[in-house]
Amino acid sequence: MPKARIRKIAINTGGGDAPGLNAVIRSVVIAALNKGWEVVGIRDGYNGLLMPGEYPEGGLLPLTRGRVRGITHLGGTILGTTNKGNPAKYPTLGPDGRWYEKDRTGELVAAFKRNGIDALVALGGDGSLGIANLLAQRGLRVIGVPKTIDNDLKGTVATFGFDTAVSFATECLDRLHSTAEAHRRIMVIEVMGRYAGWIALNTGISGTADAILIPEIPYDIRKVAAAMKALEKRNKYFAIVVVAEGARPKGGGVCVVSKELGRQEKLGGCGERVAKELQELTGRECRTVVLGHLLRGGSPTTFDRLISLRFGAAAVRALDEGRSGVMVALDPPRVRYVPLAQATQRLKTVPLNCDSILTARSLGISFGD
Ligand code: F6P
Repeated sequence: MPKARIRKIAINTGGGDAPGLNAVIRSVVIAALNKGWEVVGIRDGYNGLLMPGEYPEGGLLPLTRGRVRGITHLGGTILGTTNKGNPAKYPTLGPDGRWYEKDRTGELVAAFKRNGIDALVALGGDGSLGIANLLAQRGLRVIGVPKTIDNDLKGTVATFGFDTAVSFATECLDRLHSTAEAHRRIMVIEVMGRYAGWIALNTGISGTADAILIPEIPYDIRKVAAAMKALEKRNKYFAIVVVAEGARPKGGGVCVVSKELGRQEKLGGCGERVAKELQELTGRECRTVVLGHLLRGGSPTTFDRLISLRFGAAAVRALDEGRSGVMVALDPPRVRYVPLAQATQRLKTVPLNCDSILTARSLGISFGD
């Protein structure tokens, strides 16, 4: 591959934050500076470039060694992020006073050129990397880095942020066992994950749940209730039920909180729905805990730090080798590159015959099917 001539690169973080973003940023910055490249960070997704006037201190943050010192273990992102700033569907106020979605990708590519930016390292999930793919198609040199607590990106064994989310959720389940047992209650724990059940599945198995409800397996609440009843026969008078936010009953839909212009629908409330129905069917007291954004906070685990640092360094190597339009991906023991188009084609959901599902079934965990 021809050696690409690069003087200045940009990094951005888009969509929901995930533990490990700062570790990737540090890795990209140090590896790039070591090649003699200049690095800037775009604030809040692409907003720093699309609306520089909104940032009195500048929409682009110069990223020096000093700026990225001591950030590897920090949650969040020093660049800021947004899930309302899709440049292909940018919420824009029309002359008639109504909001509509406008394609601003051409404008964005021009802004990269105007600012002398030769390439972009985009840290994001399926939405943000889909945008990165559009920019690559429009001629920008782009490398994607797979970020999301949901672990729903194709082409990579793991996204950074997922391990931290599952580790924290598992700790929460450990804590909920004792109070559930003390009160003889059914505790229903709702976790994030959007349309994929990875967080719920891994947390439920690791945290010894009695039932796990995931989007990939529509549930029958009567079967979940029967599983709770069966526990009583074995003298177990409490239960832990993990519900993915995208779980849905057979023949029913997901619980949607809202749908706003320029962003994905917001999910939530299915834990409460399950708890209410289980209480009616079992006559047992049910309580709901929504872990929500707690799963996105805190320090990345060692695993997430390590893959974040590896991904960042691999992204810089990819640019140096002249690659573009690819995402760095974990394929143990290697990090490899997969086309962004392939990684974002469709979501990676839980295969029904995967080992984790089989393990859960062997352990007697109910999926309500
Ligand atoms: O995609 C990551 C994620 O945390 C999902 O699990 C969740 O549905 C969504 O983001 C929540 O987004 P927001 O922060 O906009 O509520």
